[in-house]
Amino acid sequence: MDKNKFYITTPIYYVNDEPHVGHALSTVCADIIARYQRSLGKEVFFLTGTDEYGAKVLLKAKSEGKEPQQFVDSVAKEFEKAWKLLNVSNDIFIRTTDPRHKKNVEEFINKVYQKGDIYKSEYEGYYCIGCEEFKVERDLIEGHCPVHRPEQTVFQREENYFFKLTKYATQVLEILENDEYQILPKQKKHEIVTKLRDAIEKNELPDLSISRENLDWGIRIPWDEKHAIYVWFDALLNYSSALKMKDIYDKFWPADLHVVGKDILWFHTTIWLSMLLAGEEELPKQVFATSYFTIDGQKMSKSLGNVIRPADLVEKYGVDGARYLLATSLPYHDDGDIGYLKFDTRYTADLVNNLGNLVNRVVGLIKKKDYTIKNFELEQDYFSELEPLFNEYKLHEVLQQILMHVSKVNLKISEEKLWEKEGEEFSTKIESVVKSIRQIGYNLAPFMPNTSLFINHTFAESAKESEQVLFPRLT
Ligand code: MSP
Repeated sequence: MDKNKFYITTPIYYVNDEPHVGHALSTVCADIIARYQRSLGKEVFFLTGTDEYGAKVLLKAKSEGKEPQQFVDSVAKEFEKAWKLLNVSNDIFIRTTDPRHKKNVEEFINKVYQKGDIYKSEYEGYYCIGCEEFKVERDLIEGHCPVHRPEQTVFQREENYFFKLTKYATQVLEILENDEYQILPKQKKHEIVTKLRDAIEKNELPDLSISRENLDWGIRIPWDEKHAIYVWFDALLNYSSALKMKDIYDKFWPADLHVVGKDILWFHTTIWLSMLLAGEEELPKQVFATSYFTIDGQKMSKSLGNVIRPADLVEKYGVDGARYLLATSLPYHDDGDIGYLKFDTRYTADLVNNLGNLVNRVVGLIKKKDYTIKNFELEQDYFSELEPLFNEYKLHEVLQQILMHVSKVNLKISEEKLWEKEGEEFSTKIESVVKSIRQIGYNLAPFMPNTSLFINHTFAESAKESEQVLFPRLT
């Protein structure tokens, strides 16, 4: 296998909702990792996209009085727009309504069916449309899913096709326990492994229903067109469809990293691995699951009116400000609280008063002294403490470390009273400061690409002409 390639994915987002800060978290984290891997010289393929079938999306389209295709076309555009705004460097934007994805799903399901891993049976039980997930009694509180509105939990009795999840469960458990497919953070590995082990031991893991009889909005079961394929069975396969669409499956498969939210980790472990084992495809290497954002202590929801959208963030803090705030707020182990007040405080402390101040004051000094920078060499190195943090995707900690370097340079300038120096002494000291700033700029590149370019450009010959203020104060 080509060690020099890196295939990274985000979840594909349901189009029943417009892009919000929760979606932006997975996407921006994946983008930072993709940019980091590129800077290490890897050939990266970065996938994101939209999940457009299923009951939830259909209901939403109907509630807006639109044809489903017309509806999904318009929301998918919103996602593409949001990721452009946030300077996301994805190589493809996949949509599950693409006929090429349908072809891949059909081929896969046919193969697994012919192998005897899919059978027809009666399904009786609960389904939460909000989660697009079958539920057992113990998942419900007072008869409905605790996360979504009560009416979204429906009772169903119908003929379904089932996938033999149970056939692969023990093998999947072993793979997860041995980190052959590594779950990060480790604490989340523990949760999944315990859940799966318990279910196997208690004989409580059901086979997975993978079709819906009365759903008009989905890819059809190829040998029985009355049935729509369950949205998750279809959605997970986007990861292989995307490579086949570009004719690069052989080069990039399997995925090196799936970035997901904690809510969908079960699907990206137990279900996804079982499917791949059944389909006899090579397994992915790693999955990184973030926790959730809450907004000022509350769940983000339309009814509470506290939804933060990528466009709002970019308007207020600029692209790089928005990316910085998302990455520093990364809820790594536990859920993390965000909100405008917290964002304002952090933007001002870290970007205006620390990073912005450093760059702006040094540019000011260079202008005042009419100094011409002599050394333009850029050290293309990451600070040594960053690599282990990057390897565990602790992106918030990487930023903390970089900002510590920024503080140090700021302190050095003040302690040395650099503005009072002249001649040779000024030259030696300012060259050293500029070198540090450029290295900081290099380290920031995966997180804040524009700022990094700005720093690089400003501290070349053009420093004296620079008019732009980096990270102005909030108004
Ligand atoms: N369509 C499925 C994924 C299929 S992947 C083959 C799906 N989509 S989703 O739009 O509902 O959510 C996708 C992801 O958005 C979640 O896993 C999570 O990463 C992110 N988030 C949604 N709300 C969030 C927060 N409040 N906070 C952080 N991330 C959240 O599930």
